[in-house]
Amino acid sequence: MPFRPQRLALAPSLLSADFAALGDAVRSAEEGGADALHLDVMDGHFVPNITFGPALVRAVRARTKLPLDVHLMIDEPLRYLDAFHSAGGDTLVFHVESRDPAPEVVRAARRLGAGVGAAIRPDTALGALAPVIADVDQVLVMSVNPGFSGQKFLPEVLPKMRAARAELSRLGTGAYLSADGGINAETGGLAAAAGATFFVCGNSVYGEGSVRDNLSRLRAAVEEGARRAVP
Ligand code: DX5
Ligand code: ZN
Repeated sequence: MPFRPQRLALAPSLLSADFAALGDAVRSAEEGGADALHLDVMDGHFVPNITFGPALVRAVRARTKLPLDVHLMIDEPLRYLDAFHSAGGDTLVFHVESRDPAPEVVRAARRLGAGVGAAIRPDTALGALAPVIADVDQVLVMSVNPGFSGQKFLPEVLPKMRAARAELSRLGTGAYLSADGGINAETGGLAAAAGATFFVCGNSVYGEGSVRDNLSRLRAAVEEGARRAVP
């Protein structure tokens, strides 16, 4: 089911969890107040790293009712949309820098009945989203270079987040803005003030401390940041 969060949303990224105890990571996120789960799919081509495929998404789907946000860091999203949707992905987030034409990817995801998000890397201009921005559920602005969890937030993406927020508000489609990469209580507040409403969080949630406490701290920070955002 396409997902449109009704409040500021926190989406723990399973990439930072212990892969040998993924069931526990899913449960602790759900019990700790997560709004969605973020699953990072990497193919070793679009990014240098390789993670997992539809089988793992299916296994996670069987463990939770949380919406699954599937971040496709792959060269050929068109080829795999159906597999990730059938596996239980609610929102399929593809990169406009991938090989496939963005409007075709959006149309294919819609034909499947999936939610669709368009993502851009830190060094990609907002204009690259123009062919599809009016037709997606989610715009994802990466705040680290895709490929690995645990990297440092790049503050130079903040003006692009503000511009994305302004464009989404102008379009009035109700699409939401995601920030992904290096989000913690400090940077999450900055991203919220820049207009993000959906926060992917890996290391800051699955690193030190309990998942519940980490999510509470992050929620307080993004709520505080959002009060400073231009509507
Ligand atoms: C990076 C991924 C991110 C990452 C987030 O390529 O897209 O979703 O797992 O992890 P943190 O929050 O640790 O940067
Ligand atoms: Zn991601």
